Amino acid sequence: MNMAFKQETLRDDYTFSNSPESVRRFPFPFDEDEYMYSVNIEPHDAGPPGAVTEYAIDIDEHYLTECEERRIVLEDDHGRYVALPHMMDAQWDMVELVMTNLAKDYPESFQLTQDGDNWHWVNKPLGIDQQFVFGDTSTLPMEPFEFISRQVQGDWVIMDQRDDDLFADLGIVTGQADWSVAFDAGMSFKEWHAPVPHAPEMGIFDRALKYLLHLQYGSPVRRTNWRMCVNPRLDTSSEKWHLWGPDNVSVTAENVAEKVYLRVELQALFRLPRSNAIAFSIRTYMVSLEDLAMYPRWIKRLYRVLNSLHPDLAEYKGLNSYLPYVLEWLKPQDDGEVLPKGT
Ligand code: HEM
Repeated sequence: MNMAFKQETLRDDYTFSNSPESVRRFPFPFDEDEYMYSVNIEPHDAGPPGAVTEYAIDIDEHYLTECEERRIVLEDDHGRYVALPHMMDAQWDMVELVMTNLAKDYPESFQLTQDGDNWHWVNKPLGIDQQFVFGDTSTLPMEPFEFISRQVQGDWVIMDQRDDDLFADLGIVTGQADWSVAFDAGMSFKEWHAPVPHAPEMGIFDRALKYLLHLQYGSPVRRTNWRMCVNPRLDTSSEKWHLWGPDNVSVTAENVAEKVYLRVELQALFRLPRSNAIAFSIRTYMVSLEDLAMYPRWIKRLYRVLNSLHPDLAEYKGLNSYLPYVLEWLKPQDDGEVLPKGT
């Protein structure tokens, strides 16, 4: 990563901002002029240098900002961390997944030394230097998954696989798009997806579940999902709706380009070796409409997608109160150029 870590806020005065490099690597999710849910799962292969998919776990200029945001959320509500007792093997799997990948891909920031079960972890940006015995929780200052998930960007839900289904039995979720991990804890794949409009009857969750049950260790997969938000606020959880919901009616024709953000979740799924659980990471990237306009093709495509979006999806994604302002701002920037599918 060739960007310096920034220290910004994702609440109150919202000092979060993207460098031009961050905008350039934004995972713009639309490759055609329309959008409907699909089983958009592909191998989580290494992308080109600098892309958000270059490495299995992406660290960017917002690393310190997001770790601090997670600390703030957990201090206020520790219920965003959920760990059912039978998930201890999965907790250690996660320690291994995150530490080995970060140390391999970002050696200037993270170092891991392994001598049998004696591990030594150094996280330079956060100033952590921890020796511990892998598998022995008493050698860490907190549960293993909480320890490591406070040091990585993105939310994580770890699913236990049993009875041909997946259950959300372990997770750290501090920056979600209007759902609640406390509510979903222990639910099965189709249960927690029940509020999503149209996708169940399109067979999307049947097919996705079937695919995931056969996910192989060493062959992770990924998909993207998207929303929009008002202000660069990561914690748009259902629990905190009273804090961010009212912002949705603060958008005007004058402030829409700076206040409204396209919010993309790069979701990767990894089979874990000891527990046979599946780790699901939800890594959120936010870019304001103003910044998105650096790339006119993105703006044209976004206009077409939003202008043709099924009303039920617009409602589910919580866009209704400000979508007219967004469309009004985007429309004059669409000159009608034909944008080939897949670009
Ligand atoms: C939405 C979790 C995998 C498709 C959601 C929601 C949650 C969730 C909590 C929000 C539901 C709500 O509104 O309460 C997960 C977990 C997964 C997973 C833990 C790990 C296995 C997948 C996969 C697909 C998928 C593989 C593939 C099609 C969707 C879609 C939505 C959704 C289409 C609606 C998103 C939107 O419109 O904003 N998921 N999901 N999910 N999920 Fe998943």
